[in-house]
This record gives sequence, structure tokens and C-alpha cells, in this order.
Amino acid sequence: MNTHSTTSEPSLGHSYDGIQQYDNPLPRWWKWLFLASIAYCPFYLMYFHAGAPGRSVDEQYQANATENTRKQYAEIGNLSGDQQTMVKFLKDPKWVGVGQSIFKANCVSCHAADGGGNVGPNLCDENFKHIKALPDILKVINEGVAGGAMPAWATRFSHKNDVILVSVYVASLRGSKPAIAKAPDGSPIPAWPIE
Ligand code: HEC
Repeated sequence: MNTHSTTSEPSLGHSYDGIQQYDNPLPRWWKWLFLASIAYCPFYLMYFHAGAPGRSVDEQYQANATENTRKQYAEIGNLSGDQQTMVKFLKDPKWVGVGQSIFKANCVSCHAADGGGNVGPNLCDENFKHIKALPDILKVINEGVAGGAMPAWATRFSHKNDVILVSVYVASLRGSKPAIAKAPDGSPIPAWPIE
């Protein structure tokens, strides 16, 4: 016999195979907590997942992690913007990620979040207007082109490595598939060297 049968809790009066159901409602506070969490959830979703970018825990983590990496510039010293250095960093996702965070902070208004292009050209396709080799990317970003329609960035970053790493990130975009790809501009160029 189960211990409940001797208590004074009211039974709901039905019995299946000798199993009876007692009337033990969830505590009132528990039910209110449950309802409150349902009422809260649309606001949570809207704020963290559909609101301004950068609010979700994952995005905040990514931002902090890359910011932290940026503080490790001592590890790589002052980069020189030659082709060999760019190829080397192109193979290192950690530093390409730093380039990506710099791109997100400065370039997306004209080139779109994934480089697909907006006012500025699509950076993901095989066609370029001002670029034939890797170091040209750095030159265009440093000096700007088209009378400032593409601004010069040489003096806008706090560290010279920033502009080199954002160039490496731009190089890494080539061949990726942006959500909205602007029609190609300029002419096709040879593949990036592998070393
Ligand atoms: C104010 C808008 C604007 C911003 C901000 C901007 N760009 Fe541009 N960018 C342009 C335009 C416009 C062009 C094309 C110029 C032309 O047609 O000659 C361009 C061209 C380029 C090119 C050369 C593409 C080619 O086909 O040769 C690269 C690389 C580039 N931008 C990278 C960047 C990076 C990296 C950033 C951020 C640090 C950035 N841009 C920020 C407007 C912008």
C-alpha cells in the first residue's frame, strides 16, 4: 500500500488499475512563475535575437574574444603589409576574425555585413576595380579611391595592424556567398597566391 492512502489529501475519485489520483495542485507561485516566463519570452526574443546586432550572448562573446585578441598585438609585432605577410595571416582564422571585427565596425555601411556590396562594390566575387594583387587591397584601403567615395583609412585606425588585418579579411571574402550579391564591377583577377 502506498503511503498516500493514509493521508487526508482529497482523491480526485478515479482509479486505474488501483492507481488513484490525489488532488495535489502545483503551488500558486509556481504557476505564476510559469505564466510570467511565457509572457517574458517574446520580449526576450525581440531584444536579444531580433533587435540591434551584437546583443546575443554569442555575439557579445565573439566581440569580447576578438577585442581580447586585438590586445595581443604584441604577439605579432608591427606587421608589414607585404604579400607574404598577408598570405600568412589569411591562413590564420584567429587574426582573420580580428579583421572581420574591424570590417564590421567600419565598412558594412557601404559594403554590407557580409561584403556583398551596397554603395561600395561586392568584395566576394572574382572581379575587382582597383585590385590585381593582395597588397593592392591594403593600398586602396589606406589611400581610398574614387575621390573619397571609398574613404582613405590610413590615419583612422588606432593601430597599423588594423588596416592590414582588415585587408586580410577582405581577401578572405573572395569566393564566399553573400546574402545579397551586388553585380560584379571591374574585371576578373588571378587567384591569390598560396604562399
Ligand atoms: C562611404 C562608403 C564606404 C565605406 C565606409 C567603405 N568603402 Fe570601400 N568602397 C566604397 C566605394 C564607393 C568603392 C568603389 C570605388 C570605385 O568605384 O572606384 C569602394 C571600394 C573598395 C575596395 C576596392 C574594390 C575593388 O573592386 O577594387 C575595397 C577593397 C574596399 N572598398 C574596402 C573597404 C574596407 C575594408 C572598408 C572599411 C575599412 C571600406 N571599404 C569602407 C565605399 C566605401
